[in-house]
Amino acid sequence: MLALSGCGRPTAPGPEETTRVQEAGRAATKAVVESLGSQLKAAIQSGGPVAAIAVCQQVALPLTDAARSGLPDVVAVRRTTLRPRNPQNAPDPLDRIVLERLAATQPLPEELIEWPAEGPARFYKPLVIQEVCLNCHGDPAGFPPPLTEALAGRYPEDQATGYAIGDLRGVIRVDVARP
Ligand code: HEC
Repeated sequence: MLALSGCGRPTAPGPEETTRVQEAGRAATKAVVESLGSQLKAAIQSGGPVAAIAVCQQVALPLTDAARSGLPDVVAVRRTTLRPRNPQNAPDPLDRIVLERLAATQPLPEELIEWPAEGPARFYKPLVIQEVCLNCHGDPAGFPPPLTEALAGRYPEDQATGYAIGDLRGVIRVDVARP
């Protein structure tokens, strides 16, 4: 007999349910992870870091939409972090627990899944700082003045600088509907 939670579904998912959520999460994050770095590099080379801001800002959105099409169970894809640049990306309480646990874990897991008692399952994929990320998330003393100005104008509460290569920057979170 399975233990049932308040809303009447098993609290501990079976292996099939875990596989379903894992596959949806992997499919939804693949495109974002694979193309973010290369698109940023290309944008910085052609227009400089200020022009490339739009890539980390906007390209993630169409990408996540693309990731969603063909994945009917995926109800949302977002990024979150303990040190947001955009306050809209701030973590909710469960995100925060996951981010704090990841920050204390070495080596980082490739992915993890949380099963809230209510609502969709959450697939989390850690995002690690690579060299290209330092252009806008590294030591702000090295930023060209137009970049500093553009960031200050758009993100007066920016906390997302001072990272080094290999640091955990945040996660992509994929919400996968449950039956
Ligand atoms: C050209 C500048 C630039 C580069 C390079 C860049 N980012 Fe960003 N990043 C931004 C901006 C601007 C935002 C705020 C986007 C928004 O408004 O949602 C951001 C936001 C984020 C967020 C969402 C959380 C938050 O702080 O708001 C994550 C996660 C992130 N970046 C990871 C990365 C990673 C990983 C790399 C390297 C692969 C990277 N970024 C490279 C400019 C950049």
